[in-house]
Amino acid sequence: MQLRLDKYLADMGVGTRSEAKRYIRRKQVTVNGLPPKGPEQKVIPGKDQIVFQGKPLPYLEYEYFMLNKPKHCVSAVTDRRYKTVIDLITESNRRDLFPVGRLDIDTEGLMLITNDGILAHQLLAPGKHVPKTYYARVEGRVTKEDVREFAKGLDIGEKKPVLPAELRILADDGGTSLPEQSSEIELTIMEGKFHQVKRMFEAVGKHVTYLKRISMGGLMLDHALLPGEYRKLTEAEINLLKNQRKAVDGKEKL
Ligand code: URA
Repeated sequence: MQLRLDKYLADMGVGTRSEAKRYIRRKQVTVNGLPPKGPEQKVIPGKDQIVFQGKPLPYLEYEYFMLNKPKHCVSAVTDRRYKTVIDLITESNRRDLFPVGRLDIDTEGLMLITNDGILAHQLLAPGKHVPKTYYARVEGRVTKEDVREFAKGLDIGEKKPVLPAELRILADDGGTSLPEQSSEIELTIMEGKFHQVKRMFEAVGKHVTYLKRISMGGLMLDHALLPGEYRKLTEAEINLLKNQRKAVDGKEKL
């Protein structure tokens, strides 16, 4: 693959195409140690050595970040009112990053941010049934009966009931650490319907007061990340997501 030098620089987050052209004109870029002929010069990512302001600028086709989404931040690329999950990724200026799926504004936790549209599609497409696990605090006592109802597949007002989900009670109001009449649970769902977790609890007459996603497709939220913090995925984590994708695809063919 060959691409124009100004596009290479813009893809790597140096700035817009016009800013990239300006850097080239100001001699802040070299290609294989030489000043380029101009912004239109073709370069081969991975082969030609591009140096920007004295530092090597390798071409990364795809980038993958794990963010611990905080509250009051929206799962969008841009927003006129609120900070977005993309605004929090300050380490990369590339313009093609997007969040994989959505969390409500008041939901915290694991958000995958990438520019890999194929992986995103494989993780999100309806029918892929990628597991997503949430931790929640719920008003009222979550019971074994609720666990059975969730395992059957609840009617949350969609055309069809949602798929069976695994509900685990971590603590109920018998414990001392919780406010009265509340429970702590983990729930694994295989779909991503709008407000799905909250609506599943409403369907059994209970209200979610705190929600956090802790895993998606085998990728676990790093406990070291405080709300608003992020890090790059490791190679192993990227492979895990890609292999999970194959596992899910494989299951579909059965
Ligand atoms: N389910 C919800 O209700 N909200 C979320 O943000 C994610 C899943």
